[in-house]
Amino acid sequence: QLAEKPVYKNLQIAESLKAQSKTKKARIDRFQKTENPKFKNLQIAESQKTAPQKARDDAVQKDESQKQDFRNNRQHNPLAAKQNRLLQVRQSLPIWPQATNIRNALLENHVLILAGETGSGKSTQVPQFLHTSAWCTGRVAVTQPRRVAAVSLARRVAEEMGTPLGKSPQSLVGYNVRFDDNVGKNNRIKFLTEGMLLQEMLRDPALAEYSCVVVDEVHERSVNVDLLLGFLRGLVTGTGEAAKKRKGKPLKVVVMSATADTEKLKDFFSEGFGQPPTVDSIPTVNDGEPVLDKEETSVEKSQESSVLSSNKISTCFVEGRMYPVQTEYLSEPTRDFSEAALLQIFQIHRKEPMPGDILVFLTGGDVITNLQQAIEDMIPNVITKDSGLPKLLVLPLYAALSQAQQQAIFSPAPPNTRKVILATNIAETSITVPGVRFVVDSGKAKIKQFRNRLGLDSLLVKDISKSSAIQRQGRAGREAAGKCFRLYTKSNFETLEKDTVPEILRCDLSSAVLTMKARGVNDVMDFPLLTRPSREAMERALLQLLQLDALNPEDGNISDLGRKIARLPLTPAHGRTIIAAADPEMGCLLPVIDIVACFNSENIFVEVKDQDANDEAREARNKLSCRQGDHLTLLSAVQAYASERTDRKQWAKQHLVSHRSMQNVMDVRKQLRAQCQQAKLLTKEELANADDDNLATVSESTGNNILKCFLRGFPTNVARLVPDGSYRTIHGHMAVAIHPSSVLYGRKLEAILYNEFVYTNRTYARSVSAIQMNWLEEIYSGSS
Ligand code: CDP
Repeated sequence: QLAEKPVYKNLQIAESLKAQSKTKKARIDRFQKTENPKFKNLQIAESQKTAPQKARDDAVQKDESQKQDFRNNRQHNPLAAKQNRLLQVRQSLPIWPQATNIRNALLENHVLILAGETGSGKSTQVPQFLHTSAWCTGRVAVTQPRRVAAVSLARRVAEEMGTPLGKSPQSLVGYNVRFDDNVGKNNRIKFLTEGMLLQEMLRDPALAEYSCVVVDEVHERSVNVDLLLGFLRGLVTGTGEAAKKRKGKPLKVVVMSATADTEKLKDFFSEGFGQPPTVDSIPTVNDGEPVLDKEETSVEKSQESSVLSSNKISTCFVEGRMYPVQTEYLSEPTRDFSEAALLQIFQIHRKEPMPGDILVFLTGGDVITNLQQAIEDMIPNVITKDSGLPKLLVLPLYAALSQAQQQAIFSPAPPNTRKVILATNIAETSITVPGVRFVVDSGKAKIKQFRNRLGLDSLLVKDISKSSAIQRQGRAGREAAGKCFRLYTKSNFETLEKDTVPEILRCDLSSAVLTMKARGVNDVMDFPLLTRPSREAMERALLQLLQLDALNPEDGNISDLGRKIARLPLTPAHGRTIIAAADPEMGCLLPVIDIVACFNSENIFVEVKDQDANDEAREARNKLSCRQGDHLTLLSAVQAYASERTDRKQWAKQHLVSHRSMQNVMDVRKQLRAQCQQAKLLTKEELANADDDNLATVSESTGNNILKCFLRGFPTNVARLVPDGSYRTIHGHMAVAIHPSSVLYGRKLEAILYNEFVYTNRTYARSVSAIQMNWLEEIYSGSS
C-alpha cells in the first residue's frame, strides 16, 4: 500500500518496499496463527465457526478483494466503483500509513493511546484496522460522547465496508444510542455512546461480547468517559471481580484524543498496572514518510516480547495535514454574537473570492434556528440576480436534529452554491464537516455547570477555552488554506482558559455516583478517576441519592430502588419520578412518561414572537395550557398531538408546536414505554391499552398525583411565595422568578415545583407547576 503512494516515485524503492511488505505479512500471519500460545486456540476449524466469526472472516476476505480490485483498477459495477472511491479516500487519510503500527501495537500491548488531529481518520479507520486482527474474536466497541457522532460514524463505516447498517444479517456495523438501538447479531463493529456502554456494563460488567473498546474523543472529558476509563482500567489490568469473568480473554483498549496531551492518560493506566510508566512510544509519522523500518522493528519486538510485555501501554501520534489558516479578530467586543455572525457570513460571501463552505460555531439549537431564519430573510436582498453571487444553503447542525437533517451536512453543495453550516461545538472535534474553508467562531459554547447554592445543573453560555478556539480555527484548514473569523478581540482570546474544565468538576455527580454504585463500587471515593472531584461534591451526590431512596441509609450501598433507577436511561431524578408514578397508588406512569419524554427532547413549543403568530394560532396554543402549570401543559400537548391522526405537521403548525421536536418526543416516549415494560413497571396489557385515539382528560386528582411524582424526583426543586411577593427556594433561600415562557408567568401561588434554572440577568425557574406545601410532608412521611 505504501509503495503505491505517489511519494514513492522511485520505483526501485517501491519494489523493495513491496517485497519487504510481503515477508512482513507472512511473518505476522505465522506469528498470529502458530507461534504465539495466546492465539493457539484461535485456530478454529472452518466447520466450527460461529456466525459472527464467519462474518468476520468474510469481511477480511472482502477487504482483501476490495483492495485487489482497487489495485487492478477493475470497476465491475457502480457499487464497486463507489467502494473504490471510498477506499481511495481512506488511503489518503493521515492515519492510513499507521495501520500496521496500530495493529502491531495492540498485538503486544493491552492499551494504545492514540492522539491525532481531528479528521485524520481515527474514528472511522481504527475500528476497521482492528476487527480483523487475530486476537479480535469478539466485537469492537467504539464509544462517542454524542449520539449524532455515533450514528453518523456507524453509517460512514458501514458504507466504507460495503455492508448494510444495523440489524440485517449481512451488516458488520451497528450502533446503539439512547432511545435508538440498531445492532445486528453479526455486527463486528458497534458504535455507541459512552452512556450506553456504561448501561451495558450493568448487564455484563466484564463486557464479554467485546475484544476491544475504542474510547474516542477522550479530550472532551465528559463525566461518562471518565467513569468508563475507570472501569476499563479495572478490566484491562485484571483487577476486580468483573475482570475475572472474562475468563482470561484479553480486552484491548484504545484511547483516542484530538489533543496531544496524553501524559495524564499514560500515567493513569500505568498506575492501574501498578507500575511506573513503561511506555513504548510509536514515533510520530508524517504522511508519506517511510515508516516501514519502524514497522519492521515493531513486529520484531512483538515477536520477541509478546508475553513479557503484555502489560505495556503504547502511544501513537498521527499528524494531520494542516493548511495555514489566517485568523482575524474583531477590533471591538460585541454584545450580540448572532448579529456579528450574520454580518460576517455575508461579508465572507461577498468579499472572499475563494470557494469553500462556511462553518459557524454557535451555542445551541435556539440560537441556530434564529440565525438561520435571519440569514434566509437577508438572502433575497444580498444575492440578487445582478450581484452575480453564488447561492447560499444554510444547514443547521446540533444534537437534537433528526438524523436525516444531520446527514445533509455531508452532501456536497449543489452547483454554484456555498454551504453555511450553523453548528454547536459538536463540529469542533466530533464531526468533520467536509468542504469548509471559512470558520466563524462566536467564542461561546453552552456548557453544563453545577450551581452549588441551587443544587442543580444548568446549561450556561460560557466563553470557550483556548484549546477549543484552536480546534475551531483548525476546521478551516483541513482541505486547503482557510480563514477563521473570531467574533471577539485578540485580548479576549488571551484571557481565555487554556483548557476546558472536565465535566466531572463542574456538574452534578448524582448520575455518576449511582453509575458506580450500581456496578458494585461501594467506596466511590476510592474509584480510579482521571480527575478527582472534591469530596464535598461527592458527598452532595451521595446525599441526593439518599433523598431519592436510591441508597440504603444503613450502609450507603445501592438499594433495590436505586438499581431500578440505574437501569433507566435517565437522570436519577427522572428515574425516581418514573418509579413513583408506577406505584399503583399513584397510577400515572403513562402520562409521566409523556412529560419526561418532553424534558428529554428539545423544547416542543415554538417561541412566539409578536410578528409571526396570528391570533388563531395563539388561541389554539392557549387551549393546550393547563392552569396547574407547565408539566400538565406539556402532557396535554403530547396527548393532543398523539391523538391527531390526519395531519400532525399541520396540527403542530396550527398550535405553534415544533413538529420536529414532537416527533422526537414520540420516539423517546416509545422507547421509555418499552424500557418500563422491560423493567416490569408497565404490563403488556397496560401498554396495549395506552390508547392515543381518544384525547384523555386528566382529572384533578391524577394531575396532582403526577406532580407529586415529580416532587418525589425533585424534592429540593421547590420555591415558596414569601411575604414580599417573590419566590424563594426552600433549600438555600434563593430568590427565583417564574420564567416568562411558563404558563404560570406572573402568577402568585403558595409554592412552585420547577424542572430547571436558567440564568439571564436574573435567576428564573423554567418548567414550573403549582404545588401544595403539604405534599412535601406527605412525601417525607413515606406515603408515595
Ligand atoms: O476521528 P477523526 O476526527 O480523526 O476522523 P474521522 O472522523 O475518522 O474522519 C475521517 C474522514 O472521514 C473525514 O475526512 C470525514 O470528513 C470523513 N467522514 C465522513 O465523510 N462522514 C462521516 N460520517 C464521518 C467521517
